[in-house]
Amino acid sequence: MTDRPLIADDGPTSARIVIIGEAGGSAEQAQLKPFVGPSGWRLNEWLAQAGVSRNQCYITNVVPFQPPGNDMKKVPNDELATWIDRLHEKLAALHDPYVLVPTGNVALRALTRAKDTITQARGFIQTYTDANGRIVKVIPVIHPAATFRTPYWQRRCQLDWRRIADEASHKRLDLWQAEHVTRPTIGDLYDYTEEVVKRSDVALSVDIETWGRRISCVGFAQSDKLSVTIPTTLSYWGNQTTLDEVWQVIRALCASDAPKALQNGLYDAYWLADFDVSLRNYRYETHGMHHALDAADDHNLAYMASTELRMMPWKHIPKDSDASFKDAPSDELQRAFDGTRKDMLAIYNGIDCCVQWKLADIFEPRLKRAGLWNLYETHYVQMLKPLLAMMRHGIAVDEEARKKRYEVFRSKIDTLQDGLLAATNGIDLRGAPNKKRLAAGKFRDLSSKKIVSWLYDTMRIPKQISRATGSVTADEIAIRKAILKYPKVAPACELILEHRRTKMLTTFLDVGRLDADHRLRSSYSFSPETGRLSSSKNPKGGGSNGQNVDREIRVIFVPDDDCIFVELDESQAEDRIVKVLASQVDGVSAQRQQELLWRARAQPWENDEHIRAATTIFRVSPEAVTKPQRYIGKRARHAFNYAMRGMTFSEQLLKDGYIYTPGACQGYLDGIDRDVPEVAMWHKAIRIEILKRKRLVNDWERVLDFTWDRMDDDTFRRAYAFIPQSSVPSILNQYGMIPLHRAIRANGWRAAINVNGHDSLLI
Ligand code: URA
Repeated sequence: MTDRPLIADDGPTSARIVIIGEAGGSAEQAQLKPFVGPSGWRLNEWLAQAGVSRNQCYITNVVPFQPPGNDMKKVPNDELATWIDRLHEKLAALHDPYVLVPTGNVALRALTRAKDTITQARGFIQTYTDANGRIVKVIPVIHPAATFRTPYWQRRCQLDWRRIADEASHKRLDLWQAEHVTRPTIGDLYDYTEEVVKRSDVALSVDIETWGRRISCVGFAQSDKLSVTIPTTLSYWGNQTTLDEVWQVIRALCASDAPKALQNGLYDAYWLADFDVSLRNYRYETHGMHHALDAADDHNLAYMASTELRMMPWKHIPKDSDASFKDAPSDELQRAFDGTRKDMLAIYNGIDCCVQWKLADIFEPRLKRAGLWNLYETHYVQMLKPLLAMMRHGIAVDEEARKKRYEVFRSKIDTLQDGLLAATNGIDLRGAPNKKRLAAGKFRDLSSKKIVSWLYDTMRIPKQISRATGSVTADEIAIRKAILKYPKVAPACELILEHRRTKMLTTFLDVGRLDADHRLRSSYSFSPETGRLSSSKNPKGGGSNGQNVDREIRVIFVPDDDCIFVELDESQAEDRIVKVLASQVDGVSAQRQQELLWRARAQPWENDEHIRAATTIFRVSPEAVTKPQRYIGKRARHAFNYAMRGMTFSEQLLKDGYIYTPGACQGYLDGIDRDVPEVAMWHKAIRIEILKRKRLVNDWERVLDFTWDRMDDDTFRRAYAFIPQSSVPSILNQYGMIPLHRAIRANGWRAAINVNGHDSLLI
C-alpha cells in the first residue's frame, strides 16, 4: 500500500449526491482535498450550471492519492481491489445518498459490473445496491479531464449534470418502461394492424433485427409505451404458409398511411425490399433529425436516448437468444430480464422501436422551433427514396474484366513478395499464415509489426512517430520518409508501398464483395458534419464504399445492358464557392469582385483554376502546364483554400508519391495566396464569425455549431471548409439527385443513378 498521505473525502456524509473520482492529481495531493485542480475547476463549472452547490455533494476518489507518475496503471491490481472495497464500505456508511456519480472508467468499474466504457454508460440511470441492501441510483459521467482532450463532450456533461441535479431531488427510480409484445399470434397481428391503420396520423416506428444473414424479426411501435415485435422465422410460425401471411401483415403495416419513424432506416428498408416491403410515408429518420439539429454531435440511438430519456442502458442485451446476460450493468437490469432470456432479441428490438418513436416525437417540435424543419425535409427526407433506389440498384461489374484484373494484381503480389524477400536478405515480413484467408485463396499479407521491427530494430533507422497517435509507426508517410533519407532500406520500402497499394486494389476486386448478380452495392448515410454522404459496405455486409473507387479499378464497372454511363460532375465546385465567398469580404473592390465572380462562374473551357495555380507554382505558361503539374496545382489550391500549412501539404503530397519539401510546399501555398489574397481575408472573416457567434450557417440553412470547440487552428480549418464542403453536395442533391430520381420514376425512363460521389453522379 502507498505511504503517501491520503486525500481526505470532502463534503457532508448526509449529501444526496456522491461524486466518485478516479484518483488525485498533483493539486489534490498537495492540498489533500479531492477535485481542487484543473479537473475540479471544470467540475465546479458544471455543478454551478446545474444549480448544484459543491458543498451539497460528498466527493471521494477510488484511489485516495496521486498514483506514481499520475498513471492509474501503476497502482497494482490487488491494491486497487483493496481501495475499491474501502470505497464500498464508505458508501455504506453514508447517511442516505440519492445519486452516485462515478466520473470516468475507473470509478464506473468500481461500482458496476458492466464492461461498458464511460462514454457508453454516461447519462443512463443504473442502480447500485450497497452493503446495507439500499438501492441507490447511479448516473455515470465523463471525467472532467477527458473534456480537456475532447472539448465537445462538455455538452453531454452539462446535460448529464442537469439530469443528476433533477434526480437528486427525489429518490424514485420509476424509469421509463414499456410493454413489449414478443410472441404475437397471427390474430394479434391482424388486431394490431387494424389499430395502426385507424390511427394513421400517429407515427409508426419500424425496426428490423438481422441475425445470421436473415431478418429474424420486424418490430413496430406507435407510442413509447408498447411495441410489437413480429418474429420472421419459420421455427416461430411453424410453416411457410403462415410465415407468408405474416409477411403480408408486415407489408400492410409498412404500407399504412401512418408516417414511419426509423433510425438509419435505409438499412432496414434495404433488407425489407427483398420481401417487397416498402415504407410508405417515411417521414422521421431519427439519425437525420438529430443530424439536422446538431451535425457535429453523435447520432447513434443509444447516445441520443442517453441524453433525452430517463432509462437504463439496454444495448448490452445480447442479440443471440441463447446467450446469457452476464454483463448486466446492475442487478436491477438483470432482474428485468430474468425469465425472458429467450426473447431477449425481441425485447431489444422492442426497446429500439419505442426509443425511436419517442426520439422522433421529441425532435420534431425541436426542429420546428429551431427553424430547421425545412432543412430536414429537404435534405434528409427527400433524399431517402433516391438513396434507397441507388443502394438497391448498385453498379454492374464485368466479371471477365474483374477476374483478369484480380489475376494481374495477385501475380503482382507474388512478384512483390519475392522481391521483398530478396531486398530484406531473406527476412520474411509476412504475417503468420491465416488458415481462413489461405483457404479462400487469399495471399499472406505483410505484417505491420514485422515491418516496424525490421526497419527500426534490424536496420536501425531512427524511429518515426505518428503525429496522430504518438506511437512508433511504419505508415505510408514514415515509409516514404525512410525512402528519401535511408538508401539502405529504400528498395524494400518501395516494394512495401507497392504491396500495400496493390493489396488495397485487390480488396475492391474481391468476389465476396459482389452480389450474386455481379453487382456492387454500397450503403450511403448522412454522417459527416458537412452533410455530405458517407458510403460503406451495404447493409447485408457486401459491397464497399462506392464513392472512392480507385481509377485503376473503375474499368471493371460497366453500364447496364443497352445503357451508357453518363457522369454529371460539378467541375471544381468547392473552389468556385470559395471564390464567391472571397469576393464578398469587406474591402474587395467592385472590379476585383467581378473578376473573382467571373472565375467562379466560368465554364471549364474558359478558365481552369488548377492550371492557373500550376502556372503560379511552376512559373510556366498555361499552355506548358503538364498533367502532374496541374495535379499539384489542384492540390495546392485546395490546401490553400482550407489554410493547410507547408508541412502538412508536403506530407499529403508524399502520400501520393510526390516529393516536395515542406519549405517548397509553403512556397507554393504562398504563390496561391498572391493569386487570390482575398481567400485569407475570407478566412479572417470566418474566424471572427465563429469567435463571435459560435456557429456558421450555409445558404441552405445548414448549421455547424462551434460552442464546444477549442478555438485553435484545427477548428478554424474545419470552419473554412464547412460552407464550401456542405454546399457542394446540397447543390448536387437538390438540383441533380432528387429531381433526376423523380423524373426517372415519373417518366419510366430506363435509367438509374449508380453512384453519388459528393460532387458527381454516375447515371
Ligand atoms: N481527478 C480525479 O479523479 N479525482 C480528483 O480528485 C482530481 C482529479
